[in-house]
Amino acid sequence: MKFKGIIFDLDGVLVHTDKLHYRAWKKIADARGIPFNEEMNNLLRGVSRMESLEIILRNYHGPALSAEEKEAIAEEKNRYYREELETMTPEDVTEEVRESLTALKAAGIKVAVGSSSKNTRFILKQVGLDKIFDGVSDGTNITKSKPDPEVFLKAAEYVSLAPADCLVVEDAVAGIEAAKSGGMKAAGIGDAASCEKTDYRIAALADLKDIVL
Ligand code: BG6
Ligand code: MG
Repeated sequence: MKFKGIIFDLDGVLVHTDKLHYRAWKKIADARGIPFNEEMNNLLRGVSRMESLEIILRNYHGPALSAEEKEAIAEEKNRYYREELETMTPEDVTEEVRESLTALKAAGIKVAVGSSSKNTRFILKQVGLDKIFDGVSDGTNITKSKPDPEVFLKAAEYVSLAPADCLVVEDAVAGIEAAKSGGMKAAGIGDAASCEKTDYRIAALADLKDIVL
């Protein structure tokens, strides 16, 4: 076995909440006349809610916002996002994802989540993935978000593995960088597949068994 554990990013890897994040930020941006499109949204992958807002505000040229106003905007974004999350069901996880996780576990691989999102546990419950993981590290247990490795180092710790024994699966460039600076190998999917630091480029989670076993 090449790896003892796999740490999965959540948004954009296990579930397609990346589109929901985009729609929620788009409402915030449109209401304030801030230019925002899907390409800009890619810069927010893996980045915390407040840091995402700061990135969006680079294109805002109105009066300076206080910390309280920024906090209120971030909360408003999360309300829009949560409304969308409420509608998620187990059907929002593909069979391919579910089967891959089950097969990896059956082969003795530990599976964990490493996500910057504070909504991680809610999402996992909504889609019926709340029982399968051996460990969950998310936005509620970190002080620094990706590209800092903290979220993945905690995930490795939660499943009692050394970072070098873990493979991280990511759709975000910030996430690939986090994995690499944490001493882990990284598999990139989607946007992250073209990142030069990515060790393994994958098209689907079903490809993982050829890498880890
Ligand atoms: C990451 C997403 O998983 O979570 C980011 O890729 C998002 O786009 C971040 O900003 C924080 O999410 P939340 O749910 O705590 O607002
Ligand atoms: Mg992601």
